[in-house]
Amino acid sequence: MIVAANWKMNPALDQASILATALASQSFPQIKRILFVPHPYLVPMSVRLTGAALEIGGQDCHFADHGAFTGDVSAAMLRDCGASLVLLGHSERRAAHGETSDIVAQKIKAAMAQNLDVMLCVGETKAERDDKKAEQVVIDQLQASIPEHAPPTGLMIAYEPVWAIGTGAVASPDDIAAMHHVIASVLAERYGANHVPPILYGGSVNADNAASLFSIPLVGGALVGGASLDADAFAAICTAAQDAA
Ligand code: PGA
Repeated sequence: MIVAANWKMNPALDQASILATALASQSFPQIKRILFVPHPYLVPMSVRLTGAALEIGGQDCHFADHGAFTGDVSAAMLRDCGASLVLLGHSERRAAHGETSDIVAQKIKAAMAQNLDVMLCVGETKAERDDKKAEQVVIDQLQASIPEHAPPTGLMIAYEPVWAIGTGAVASPDDIAAMHHVIASVLAERYGANHVPPILYGGSVNADNAASLFSIPLVGGALVGGASLDADAFAAICTAAQDAA
C-alpha cells in the first residue's frame, strides 16, 4: 500500500513546516508514504524529514537535462534537492500546461535516467466517461506516456478521474475496480503478470472514504490532494491503508 500526498501549490512555508513535523512524528511501518511538494520546498522538507519514513518528490520535471527553459526544473535538479521520485502527467499539468502523453513519456525517460521513481497519472474527463470512452482514453494515455523501454521498477500509476479531483465526487467502486483491472491488464501485457507496478486511486480521497477505497480489488493505495493538507486526515488515510495492507 502506498499513500502519496500531492500538496499542489499549497500551503505557505510556515504551514508546510508544521505539517511536515506532524508527518515525521507519525509512524506507518507497513505502508509507503510519499510527499509531493512544491519545488521550492524540496530542500527544507528534505532537511526537516531526515530520518522520517517518508519519500519526497517533485510535482513535475522538464524532459531536458539543462538549457534555456525559464521556470522549469530538470530531473537532476529534483534529485539534487532531495527528491527520490517525481509525479508526472497529472491532469492539472495536462490541462493547464498542454502536456501531451508524448511529452510525459519524454519526462519519464528523463526522470528514470536520473534514478528517480515515477508516479504517472492517468484519467478521463467527465465528457469522456459520459461518451463511454473512459477506458480507451486511459489505455491510450498509458501506452503513449510510458516510454518503450521504461522498466516497471520504480514506476507507479495513479488512476485519477479528472472529474473526481477536488470535487468531492468519488468514482464508484465498480468503476474503480473496472479501470484498475484495465490498467493492470495493459501493464501485465507489457511487463508480465508478476511485474505489474502499483496502481493507486486518486480523486477526493479523504479520511471517511479511504477504507472502502482500499478494499477495492487492485487498488494499491491513494494519491491524495486536499486531504493531505490536514495532518490528521492524512494520518487517518494512512491508517486505513495500513489496515488494508
Ligand atoms: P484531491 O486531489 O484529493 O484534492 O481530489 C487529488 C490529486 O489531484 O492528486
